[in-house]
Amino acid sequence: MCGIVGYIGHREAYPIIIKGLKRLEYRGYDSAGLILYDGIDLKLSKTKGKVSDLEEISKEISTNGTIGMGHTRWATHGVPNDVNSHPHMSNSGNLAIIHNGIIENYEPLKKELIKRGYVFHSDTDTEVLVNLIEEVQKKEKLKLGKAVQVALNQVVGAYAICVFDKQNPDEIIVARLGSPLAIGVGENEFFIASDASPFIEYTSNAIYLEDEEMAIVSLDKPLKIRKIKDDTLVDPYIQELQMNLEQIEKGGYDHFMLKEIYEQPNVIKDTYRGRLHANQGLIQMAGIEDNLEKFLNADRIIIVACGTSWHAGLVAEYIIEEFARISVEVEYASEFRYRNPIINKNDVVIAISQSGETADTLAAIKLAKEKGAFVFGVCNVVGSSISRETHAGAYTHAGPEIGVASTKAFTTQITVLTMIALRLAKAKGTLSNSDFHRYLQELELIPEKVAEALTTNDKAKEIATKFKDAPNCLYLGRGYNFPVALEGALKLKEISYIHAEGYPAAEMKHGPIALIDEHMPVVVIAPKQGHYDKVVSNIQEIKSRSGKIIAVVTKGDTQVRELADYVIEIPDTSDALSPLLTTIPLQLLSYHIAVLRGCNVDQPRNLAKSVTVE
Ligand code: AGP
Ligand code: GLU
Repeated sequence: MCGIVGYIGHREAYPIIIKGLKRLEYRGYDSAGLILYDGIDLKLSKTKGKVSDLEEISKEISTNGTIGMGHTRWATHGVPNDVNSHPHMSNSGNLAIIHNGIIENYEPLKKELIKRGYVFHSDTDTEVLVNLIEEVQKKEKLKLGKAVQVALNQVVGAYAICVFDKQNPDEIIVARLGSPLAIGVGENEFFIASDASPFIEYTSNAIYLEDEEMAIVSLDKPLKIRKIKDDTLVDPYIQELQMNLEQIEKGGYDHFMLKEIYEQPNVIKDTYRGRLHANQGLIQMAGIEDNLEKFLNADRIIIVACGTSWHAGLVAEYIIEEFARISVEVEYASEFRYRNPIINKNDVVIAISQSGETADTLAAIKLAKEKGAFVFGVCNVVGSSISRETHAGAYTHAGPEIGVASTKAFTTQITVLTMIALRLAKAKGTLSNSDFHRYLQELELIPEKVAEALTTNDKAKEIATKFKDAPNCLYLGRGYNFPVALEGALKLKEISYIHAEGYPAAEMKHGPIALIDEHMPVVVIAPKQGHYDKVVSNIQEIKSRSGKIIAVVTKGDTQVRELADYVIEIPDTSDALSPLLTTIPLQLLSYHIAVLRGCNVDQPRNLAKSVTVE
């Protein structure tokens, strides 16, 4: 994710862009930049850091001009630094681009452009796109709009872009696929942004581009929207916005946490974009490919993490052991770092962290490296301490996770770890070709199945009204869903302050069953695939002690429905991929209980988003 802002009109562009970028910093904040055109010069100012840092360095340029565009970055390709920040210029210095998204096929495009004499200064995919547009423009002698269109038809990936050509400075070309782009329509002025927050104070008239649409935004001609693929014209639909600033930042949701829960279909897709090629039966992750032998020769894999990331590690233990038959141990980083663990140089350590700044995890990584282990990171923040400390890694592409309670980070971590397990299984031949292909196909379907699981929101809200005052809650799951039970319990604890415990369902008999009575809600994860009959027996044990049962089941389930007090149905998927779906209703349930209890959902008491202290 990132924030893009553009302006063309009668006002000074600079203050509009700066203020607009500040409003979009929740979308990404590792670097910022802008260009301004004053009728004579194109001025560029960009820096690592926040928009306030951009303001500081922009004092070195003249900030006049009524056309401009700005970007606040959430890096995906190329660490956060001055050079990788947007806007990116083409080799000629004529074209400028800002981009939100991922160009999957940027590497082959870059190789071809280098062959044609282009030079690159940054490590980003975006700089490739602006030079591809320039190459098309020059080679086919096209105006910018057409050149953008032709170039985008060669691109695979996601984008919301603004492109400016100082040789034709009366327009900004915009286009989108997979990332949002809104056009604010004012009196003889246009605003462009990732959402309406930068322009809502100037105009409430907005056009939201649809996927695969582009437009030439100019004062000199009526706004025309076209389909990128075949140039057909699209009638612009101008809507009058009713949202206020805060609502816009939260995408219309009441809390960042709920917004991030609903972002999961898109960010899971962003996370496997360019890596999962189900039709070709391929998984391509540079960090794994470059170190494949280390993984294949590993005596074991040790996973170190904290909190929700530790739960993702537990899911990975089941998946890697089942698929790739490599022994996996999952360790709390805080314990691992102090217990003088046995670490051999043939060990591979995987460190999982959303923030990439968790002190215990960072310390565990340093310890593992001291003892000669190869350390691989799974992080959500490009250029974070953990991503720089590890020998290699793979980023989740969840975008900024603002809510303290981790949701989309969890499912995108599992997505990355599942792809790693599948890639290792393929290399080791521990999965049959048909199973391997089946899992790739199923993983590709997960975003739409997550979207379907999100339709249980009303059901979760209804159940939340029944249990919002429960003093305790038990979460039970088996196999792949035992870690999901732990995660569901953590979600409830950390945002509603209700004590909750996750347990392997079979463990209930070894003590916790003493807790069961008519006041104890028990959430049981009981998908069709995987130990179903055993979980049904556990449900019967709870039922016979008057426990109140909330069951997460596969759509169409009839058996559990007869036993449980409340049932939430999710789509069917394979056992190994079920955590990506079973966790969704648990996120929604804890969210609604917390809201009903008047808790501060996005900033729960005592918690920090990133625990950078011991
Ligand atoms: C999860 O909802 C919590 N916010 C917390 O447990 C978190 O997962 C843990 O602090 C680890 O953070 P990290 O993934 O950024 O390392
Ligand atoms: N992929 C681009 C980059 O890494 C854009 C990332 C974003 O959406 O901020 O610079």
